[in-house]
Amino acid sequence: MKADTLAVHGGFAGDGGSGASAVPICQTVSYAYNTAQEIADAFAGRSPGYIYTRIANPTTTALETRLAELEDGIGCIATSSGMAAIASAVMGLARAGDEIIASAGIFGGTVSLFENTLSRFGIKTSFVDVADTNNFAEAINDKTRLIFIETIGNPRMDVPDIPAVAEIANKAQIPLIVDNTVTTPAIFKPGEFGADIVVHSTSKFINGHGTAIGGAIIDAGNYNWREGPFEEIKDVSQRIGQLAFLWYLRNVIYRDLGGCPAPMNSFLMLQGLETLPGRMAKHCENANKLAEFLQSHPNVSWVNYPGLEDSKFNGRVAKLFSGCCGGLLTFGLGDRQKAFGFIDSVKLAKNLANLGDAKTLVVHPASTIFHEFGADELAPMGVTEDMIRVSVGIEDFDDIKADFEQAIERAFKETK
Ligand SMILES: Cc1ncc(COP(=O)(O)O)c(C=O)c1O
Repeated sequence: MKADTLAVHGGFAGDGGSGASAVPICQTVSYAYNTAQEIADAFAGRSPGYIYTRIANPTTTALETRLAELEDGIGCIATSSGMAAIASAVMGLARAGDEIIASAGIFGGTVSLFENTLSRFGIKTSFVDVADTNNFAEAINDKTRLIFIETIGNPRMDVPDIPAVAEIANKAQIPLIVDNTVTTPAIFKPGEFGADIVVHSTSKFINGHGTAIGGAIIDAGNYNWREGPFEEIKDVSQRIGQLAFLWYLRNVIYRDLGGCPAPMNSFLMLQGLETLPGRMAKHCENANKLAEFLQSHPNVSWVNYPGLEDSKFNGRVAKLFSGCCGGLLTFGLGDRQKAFGFIDSVKLAKNLANLGDAKTLVVHPASTIFHEFGADELAPMGVTEDMIRVSVGIEDFDDIKADFEQAIERAFKETK
């Protein structure tokens, strides 16, 4: 089936018992068995069955199946947040003494996880500029266990040459993890371009309405877990083959870290997925128009949207995303004061730290999401003092434009 159909029907063939057409919310911690032997068999994996919602839950299974189908993957684990997905996937692969290569200009929370938290457990990260793909090959050494990139870096908006990075990872026999939050499978399936593992913050476009935090890890089925440096996963693969990585996560790392989603949140993600392809088309259309409008505005110093014709990443966008590169853009008005003036003046757009909502959102990254980083750290992340990040919503474009027009005017009037 095609993405539009999978988004609506994937992972759920109807509830046999009640006939419910929406996925039932299975709001339970645990699952009762008739006999001691039956529950013992379920724990030992001798028979299938739900045990405890921290490990698996029927509502969440429907979400996992739908996401795996949409990404053309072999399986999925849904998590309580995007950060839980990234932490679980990375901690399933790297241990003390290992190294990670990540693209520069990615989400600040992921940078903090790598730099501040995983470093405390002996895992070192090197950040590389994605503009030159050779940087990835040059950063690899015998301790490197994975490469981590975002499809479009948030907020630097850099687009890696994903097939070329996948080839480098493949040659080094290490998996490539791609964060597909900003593009989603409605626009781009990293697995088709050689990525091994796809992660998501489903809190964003997949949920689509700013109503629940969640995440997901999908195995694209490209990495051969029987090879490579991951001893525990290699052992599991002898028994169960290609699903070894997800099995190891579900039964060890994910189970132990406790990052499972609430069943209600899985339901909200399933509901969001139903309209994802249609929403993404509108996000792209509005973002393209807004980027062009801002670029032509005399008071706007700069605009960064990889879909713009003069973006240095436009060629990659055309090749990878068929020209549609999501709803996120950044722009500058020259200084921090004007950025604050703009944000204080918008009426339709909401000033908050999120993206991917149906509503248009604006935020000043340097003083919010990136406030804990120093000036020398912000530059390589692409965060400037005048930067305003916009998550362009699906409202009528004329209303978004009118709101931005009046807010820019007021920002300049008030800071004269
Ligand atoms: C690209 C990207 N990945 C991961 C995350 C983390 O997701 P969550 O907030 O669901 O933990 C975010 C959050 O903004 C993000 O933008």
